[in-house]
Order: sequence, then C-alpha cells, then structure tokens
Amino acid sequence: MADGDGKRGIWSRRDFFTRLGWSGFGIFTGFSLLGFLRSAFPRVLFQPPATFKAGFPSDYAVGEVSEKYKQEQRVWIVREETGLYAVFAKCTHLGCTPRWLAAENKFKCPCHGSGFFKTGLNFEGPAPRPLDRFKIAVGDDGQLVVDKSKVFKMSAGTEPDEQFPDSLLKV
Ligand code: FES
Repeated sequence: MADGDGKRGIWSRRDFFTRLGWSGFGIFTGFSLLGFLRSAFPRVLFQPPATFKAGFPSDYAVGEVSEKYKQEQRVWIVREETGLYAVFAKCTHLGCTPRWLAAENKFKCPCHGSGFFKTGLNFEGPAPRPLDRFKIAVGDDGQLVVDKSKVFKMSAGTEPDEQFPDSLLKV
C-alpha cells in the first residue's frame, strides 16, 4: 500500500534505485577485477624456436647422414659433395618417423614400409612424395642454422635437389 512520502511496501523507490546502482557498480567492479586478473596470465603459446644451430659445416663428413638432431629437432643433416641439406624426419605417407639405414643407404619408414633415397626421394611403399627439407644456411658465427619455419615441400616424381636447389647449401 502506498503512503504519502512515496514508500511502497518495505522499500522506498529511492532505496530501490540506490541498491540497483550499487549492484551495477559491484558487477562492473567484479568484471574489471576479473579482467585484471586474467591479464596477469596472458594466453601465450610457448613454442620451441623455429631455428636451431647445427654446428659447423666441417663437423659433417661428405656422404654422412647425421642423426644428431633427429631426436630433438626431427631433422637429419646430410652432407654430400654438392653441399648440405636438412631433411624433415617425417614420412610423407602418414607422418611416422623413418629410420636411416646406413647399410642400405636409405631412409625406411617402420609404419608401412616406405623407402626414401638419401636425397629424400621416395622409391618404395605408399609414401606419395619425397621427404621435405628445411632451409639451412650459415650464420654470422659460421655455424649452420636450420630454419624449420621455411619448409621446402616436395612434390611427387622429381628429385628434391631439382625441385628446390635452394634447399642445398653449397659449402
Ligand atoms: S607413415 Fe610412413 S609408410 Fe606410412
């Protein structure tokens, strides 16, 4: 029942708007605080760096397939008379990690039997194309730098050296 000074029931109209104002303020403050706390924990995706140093060219013997960085970086460093190249150790069939079989002079995938020559060219099994390579260069300090953000993605049927001459570092 209304009375003369604007009160209705147990709350006056002024009480109602005061409470509404404080509630709004409280909600705003709450969200601001949440936003502040959230900013203290930024959503950063920690990824390993795309490049890594791989020693000096002289560390690799001609004809060698080095597995030094296979475990850590999934990369083989290969040195030939013509130069050095970095092979991505990922089968182009379904992505397993092949093995280097030195006695047979080939990479062999344990999953479905794909075989690749030392250059990365596929020659047996279901892999549809050669193994990919990464950019390899010599840094300012004379060490090799492999850049995994620059992938030489191979197509079927052609030698990797012919597809991407830049994938070969002449030393
Ligand atoms: S994943 Fe390598 S042959 Fe299938």
